[in-house]
Amino acid sequence: MTSLLKPSVVEAINTQVVEEFTASMQYLAIAFHFESETLPELASFFHLQAQEEHAHAMKLLSYISEAGGHPIIPATKQIKNQFETAEECVDLALQQELQVTDQINALVDLAVKESDHLTRQFLQWFVTEQLEEVSSMSDLLNVIRRAGEHNLLLVEDYLIRNPHELARTDEA
Ligand code: FEO
Repeated sequence: MTSLLKPSVVEAINTQVVEEFTASMQYLAIAFHFESETLPELASFFHLQAQEEHAHAMKLLSYISEAGGHPIIPATKQIKNQFETAEECVDLALQQELQVTDQINALVDLAVKESDHLTRQFLQWFVTEQLEEVSSMSDLLNVIRRAGEHNLLLVEDYLIRNPHELARTDEA
């Protein structure tokens, strides 16, 4: 099929797919860490985040395919599997979300530079999604710091009392 996308745009979106699958696997590692610590709400939160990141990757791959480009299914980057504290887990997640936000912004910049308004419009969903993701992860980090590592059951209570954090199953 004729491609609606320039090679530079296809390459950049495929590169972002690596980041989204890596984020998904990283959240899975964090989810199982919390399972091993018997913190089921934190585990559920990160299992859902892992599903969302998988959906983000799929959304990007489907877009490339639909627009006539060649989607590449990648290996992920290295995943961290050993954690000392809950704060370490969530801080890593927040840093990851901030990095993805920069990457999405760079993708939008590329789409604008290439006068690719289809891709620019497609990416707006991700721009808005990053606001939600950075915000919820930043809130969770604040709650963990306030509770402290010896009071993580308070964090579990917070997640129970704020079900919107857990209710989000991404539509993608
Ligand atoms: Fe797909 Fe959390 O960014």
